[in-house]
Amino acid sequence: MAMPSSPFPPLFIIFCSFCILQGVSASSPYTAIFSFGDSLADTGNFLISGPRAFPFIARLPYGLTYFGHPTGRCSDGRMIIDFFAEAYGLPKLPPYLSSSQGWIYSKGVNFAVAGATALDVAFFQERNLTARLWTNSSLSVQLSWFEQLKPSLCHTTQDCTDYLSKSLFFVGEIGGNDYNYAFLQGLSMAQIQAFVPRVVEAIAGATSRLIEQGALNLLVPGNLPIGCSTLYLTLFYTPNKEEYDPRNGCLKALNGFSKYHNSLLKAALKKLRQKYPHAKIIYADYYGAAFKFFHSPSHFGFKNVLSACCGGTGPYNFNGSSLCGGPGSTVCSEPWTFANWDGIHLTEAAYRTIAKGLIEGPYSSPPLASPH
Ligand SMILES: *[C@@H]1O[C@H](CO)[C@@H](O)[C@H](O)[C@H]1NC(C)=O
Ligand SMILES: *[C@@H]1O[C@H](CO)[C@@H](O)[C@H](O)[C@H]1NC(C)=O
Ligand SMILES: *[C@@H]1O[C@H](CO)[C@@H](O)[C@H](O)[C@H]1NC(C)=O
Repeated sequence: MAMPSSPFPPLFIIFCSFCILQGVSASSPYTAIFSFGDSLADTGNFLISGPRAFPFIARLPYGLTYFGHPTGRCSDGRMIIDFFAEAYGLPKLPPYLSSSQGWIYSKGVNFAVAGATALDVAFFQERNLTARLWTNSSLSVQLSWFEQLKPSLCHTTQDCTDYLSKSLFFVGEIGGNDYNYAFLQGLSMAQIQAFVPRVVEAIAGATSRLIEQGALNLLVPGNLPIGCSTLYLTLFYTPNKEEYDPRNGCLKALNGFSKYHNSLLKAALKKLRQKYPHAKIIYADYYGAAFKFFHSPSHFGFKNVLSACCGGTGPYNFNGSSLCGGPGSTVCSEPWTFANWDGIHLTEAAYRTIAKGLIEGPYSSPPLASPH
């Protein structure tokens, strides 16, 4: 007869995770994380500011998989920034706009706002591209929030130097929306390509501004492969098979667009490393870390990577007139087998895979400090 072993595994897990947590907090290379960006990182700012442009985010099924209730994350669960906080033994980042809710900010703050752009809103106003704008809290607005908050995080010059040198700064992902708004308003690829250098300049400028403030560890993500995005696959749907990559079903020209943005960003970061040799400026290859599961889904436990888990009818389960959470939308029964959550944003499962690729390698360059 077998021994009654059932109580042991849970106990073992409790003890073991306790030991690991202790180990992490004792030797974690970062004592705080600050995050700037858009819906790929927002943990509640857009929701708190009144999500007029996207009210569904305030309801289930947002948050379904992990939190069990909506938190303002544009996903079914945790995102890249949450997996980083967990890996480095830090609390999940409180949204900056929750300041009145008693959150503690010393271990990090999230300034990211869903819908935010790298360029200021004036750029879009001048070009009549604000019809679908979700927020005015662009990257420079988010930086000014950090600068206002900084005196409460550290006091003397020495204190700030120490504190900021042990903090990790996420400068993005940001820039994806600058292009989304333009594509959704019907601008041509050539018109949009023409302002990629401006977007990259804004991201590099924000990175410099943070270094001037004392940041020493900066992670700057590139763009995801938008040709594999449900939104773009729906928007640019074509019967012409030539436009798709036969290996994965993604739109080749749009992935080329992401690669173009990323190549300019990498070149800009190279220049910044020369200008600030004391800072560690890491390029986070979101494209590469995501492309591997678009390319070999089953290898990462995915069954469907191009269709939305939550949405309306249409070739990719995405329909602008019945968005996830809205009337007529449905949710897949196994969100962990989907990479795309609502057509625009990824699932927790996809974000976990990307975060793992960044933390454990090889998608951070130079590599991140090991969590322990
Ligand atoms: C601005 O764009 C809207 C559609 O989004 C259009 O109806 C309007 O005519 C445009 N205005 C100008 C000045 O181009
Ligand atoms: C952005 O600011 C303008 C001018 O202050 C305002 O009219 C608009 O409603 C704001 N847009 C959003 C999405 O908050
Ligand atoms: C999108 O949804 C609308 C309203 O539910 C429906 O009438 C339309 O047929 C759907 N489009 C596709 C492509 O399924």
